[in-house]
Amino acid sequence: MIGDGIVRTEGPLKVSGRARYSLERRLDGAPLYGVIVGAGIGRGRISRLDTARAEQAAGVRLCWTHRNAPPQSAYKPHPDLLDPQPQLVDDVVRYWGMPVAFIVAESLEQARAAAGLIEIDYSEEGGGFDFATAAAGATFEAGSRFGDVDAAMASGEARVDETYSTPYHFSMPMELNSCIADWRDGKLTVLLAAQIISQLADGLAETLRLDRAQVVVDSAYVGGGFGSKIGLHAEAVLASLAAIALGVPVKVSMTRRQIFSLVGHRAASISRVRLAATREGRLTAIGHDAIHQTSEQDDWKEGAAAVARSLYAAPNRLTRNAYVRVDVGKAEPVRGPGEVPGLLAVETAMDELAERLGIDPVELRLRNDTDIDPEKHRPLSGRRLAQCLREGAERFGWNERPKIPRSRREGDWHIGYGMAASIRGHFQSEAAARVRIEPEGRVLVQADMTDPGTGTYTVVGQVAGAALGVPVEQVKVELARTDFPRGWGAGGSWGAANTSVAVDRACAALRTEINAVAGTGYNDIFAEVRRHFPQGLEAVGRTTGSDDDPNYQHYSQFTYGASFVEVGVNAYSAEIRVRRMLGVFSAGRILNAKTARSQLIGGMIWGVGAALHEAAHVDPRNGAWVNADLAEYLVPVHADIPDIEAVLLEDFDEHANHLGIKGIGELGSGGTGASVANAVYNATGIRVRDFPVTLEKLIAGGLPLPD
Ligand code: MOS
Repeated sequence: MIGDGIVRTEGPLKVSGRARYSLERRLDGAPLYGVIVGAGIGRGRISRLDTARAEQAAGVRLCWTHRNAPPQSAYKPHPDLLDPQPQLVDDVVRYWGMPVAFIVAESLEQARAAAGLIEIDYSEEGGGFDFATAAAGATFEAGSRFGDVDAAMASGEARVDETYSTPYHFSMPMELNSCIADWRDGKLTVLLAAQIISQLADGLAETLRLDRAQVVVDSAYVGGGFGSKIGLHAEAVLASLAAIALGVPVKVSMTRRQIFSLVGHRAASISRVRLAATREGRLTAIGHDAIHQTSEQDDWKEGAAAVARSLYAAPNRLTRNAYVRVDVGKAEPVRGPGEVPGLLAVETAMDELAERLGIDPVELRLRNDTDIDPEKHRPLSGRRLAQCLREGAERFGWNERPKIPRSRREGDWHIGYGMAASIRGHFQSEAAARVRIEPEGRVLVQADMTDPGTGTYTVVGQVAGAALGVPVEQVKVELARTDFPRGWGAGGSWGAANTSVAVDRACAALRTEINAVAGTGYNDIFAEVRRHFPQGLEAVGRTTGSDDDPNYQHYSQFTYGASFVEVGVNAYSAEIRVRRMLGVFSAGRILNAKTARSQLIGGMIWGVGAALHEAAHVDPRNGAWVNADLAEYLVPVHADIPDIEAVLLEDFDEHANHLGIKGIGELGSGGTGASVANAVYNATGIRVRDFPVTLEKLIAGGLPLPD
């Protein structure tokens, strides 16, 4: 049962429209509609404000600015994603689009119309909006240092010392960040699009100065998150404040355009990667200096330089991050934080090193494989990078690759093959789940874990069914309410493992209790429960956080993958087409073959976007996002994605947890982007180190090539 690729148990509800997402849900009483008004400058102060016309507009129930918004707790100096996020607190504009007013009206149209009647003048202060300019003044953190990278570079028989840059990325899930807030009988219920809800409810209660017990967050169905629904954001705070003030449910949704300002982005990065190796391809030095954007508002930090720390052996190592302030709003987690920009840089540099050495890129990685964490000096649990590389090379037909760049042409197309390795941290956090066996013949599982489209409902049902010997159809899974047992939600690829372990432990406790009175020879667990526990029987199971689990001190925990790609680059237009992709992954025991494959394929497509499409651009004059919609912030569409296959190696990581499960959500993106870019190089001989790799950069690099 565990591992079977059964279809999503909530699938019929979703395809028939009966699974309601936050904004579609119904509460007693007609809701009001809130609209957030964002600042029209990037940095400065509000110098004049006139809300008279807006307040008198049809249907308007409330019009707030910093002058009259309700008091909230203070903004912490370096708030985490889930810390209080007070809104409309003063006249300072810290980034383009920052909320400066909030209107609630009887209809969305009335609220939008009234928002347009607010008059605001600003005095601009001229912020720093250009990342490259800010990066010039970067100071690196101490980082992680072993041996002497400078000396090893000086004496290396082969060397790479190159700089790679990655742009701002956004998560852009289909469902917008949105909510309905409802205040009745002294209790606030927020139906919210969110990934990690209990900690978010803590931050929300603190922002609103409510008792935590007064706040329930419910995120039953979530239309994608990818990091963008981890943090506490303006829509939840403003809708809650308004619901409390008016005593009526209030709906607020960001617009697609507002997400670019009000939800964080992946920080842009500039990475200098240094590699030195012997003639035989043994790395003697790995250096990665990564500079990232950060902002005044938030303390969450991308860490691209960390990816190299456990990836390859090398005696001399220096990996450091730096952060420079740019006034464009917050950096937040975006799928594969650290790994996506980090592996674009490191795995491109490895490709460059392989070429300089004349060694097959797969072989170069195999020669630098390690079972021991090179920096923590402890075993790498479930290290199966080599198996991923070998299996992938075999299945893909890597031996058929054009060994010399720009050496294969089919008609108008230059053909290239590329590959890269992936690594992703596996994390374990405290989590709890309640399992109840109901005598009528149903098992009920409850946890605050969310399912942002990942398959949580399904895999949790499979785990409980397997543990109790009950068909999955008889397991009812209820998720994503803060009044269910608390965990750390869906983020960081930890949710499925955390929750499954807790559910399995609850089931084990139930079996022990039933066995004590019924023996172990029974066939029907429900019959025994009816006989011995006519009221039903329930237990709560818990997962230990990694700080208290010796396995997480004795082993370094990662998942692994290898990505292989074939591209065609049009010889005349420089158009890049991915022709086929293969990812081979090792991520512990797989809970559901179908949902796992689907996650990994989604991640691989993400990698194509990182390599070829995605980039959000800032207007350097004022910090505005220039291409703030899905027409101009490009993501791959169906036509961009060809024959794509994800293969999962059979695995069971006994050091991760007793079920052998690790996370998979963010693994698929990993090194996929670098494999695409390496394939473009192999096709054309043109190395683009400034992502995304676009046709204009290939043209600048010399396409069309002389025949
Ligand atoms: Mo993921 S970036 O932790 O949703």
